[in-house]
Amino acid sequence: MNKENLAIVIGGTGAIGNAVAHEIEKLGFKEVLRIGTKSTPSLNFNDESTIVKAAEFIKKKNKQISILFDATGVLHYENFMPEKTFKNINFKFMEKNFLINAIGPALLIKHFAPLLDNQKKSVFATLSAKVGSINDNNYGGWYSYRASKAALNQLIKTISIEMKIKNKQAIFIALHPGTVNSNLSKPFQKNNLKIQEASESAQNLIKIIKSIDQSASGKFYNWDGSILPW
Ligand SMILES: NC(=O)c1ccc[n+]([C@@H]2O[C@H](COP(=O)([O-])OP(=O)(O)OC[C@H]3O[C@@H](n4cnc5c(N)ncnc54)[C@H](OP(=O)(O)O)[C@@H]3O)[C@@H](O)[C@H]2O)c1
Repeated sequence: MNKENLAIVIGGTGAIGNAVAHEIEKLGFKEVLRIGTKSTPSLNFNDESTIVKAAEFIKKKNKQISILFDATGVLHYENFMPEKTFKNINFKFMEKNFLINAIGPALLIKHFAPLLDNQKKSVFATLSAKVGSINDNNYGGWYSYRASKAALNQLIKTISIEMKIKNKQAIFIALHPGTVNSNLSKPFQKNNLKIQEASESAQNLIKIIKSIDQSASGKFYNWDGSILPW
């Protein structure tokens, strides 16, 4: 990876995003940008024009992107919690999950994939979740989150196929960070034995990004480097 290039973390204010930005800084990148709803420029999935403006801001730097790390996501929102049964399915909550977990990342692909380095290895990584795996769904529930992350996984697979022709250096992957201590996971932590701190998860995720080559594009990685089924 060309460290003179840009590394960008979208959702750099989140628990995992912030820790990932720190780990990327340690790799020696000259410029690591954290872009989110409160940064300058700001970027909010509610409004595509903010994504356009953020991409224009990057273009003006006349540098390509070596790492685009998407750390955005939602699991619970206002008074809504993930659905235990189909009876809890709610338009507003499902819409929010699809907007933040799938449509937003799709728009990141649209506006940032053309800016990825096409001379040396570049990586577009997005934080998905193991519960988005259809094969791995053994417990049911969490309709909106599961379905929106499954949609995100499909987007990553699809862009990886298109970009194999358009940019042979660009690698597109989905990542499961593990269960990580954050506001997003807080209501559910008691159910899990292994909870990582964001810094630990970020180290594991960056290890994957450093080690992969083109053959990784279109794959879904667990935090420990193993491959998850779609
Ligand atoms: N924590 C876990 O145990 C766990 C497990 C599996 C998967 N994941 C996935 O990992 C990712 C990050 O999780 P986290 O635990 O770090 O959560 P977090 O601390 O709640 O961070 C969520 C991030 O999403 C951003 N975001 C929310 N709404 C947005 C919008 N409308 N436009 C742009 N950005 C928006 C937030 O930015 P603002 O602060 O600016 O709103 C924040 O940076 C998520 O995709 C999550 O599904 C987490």
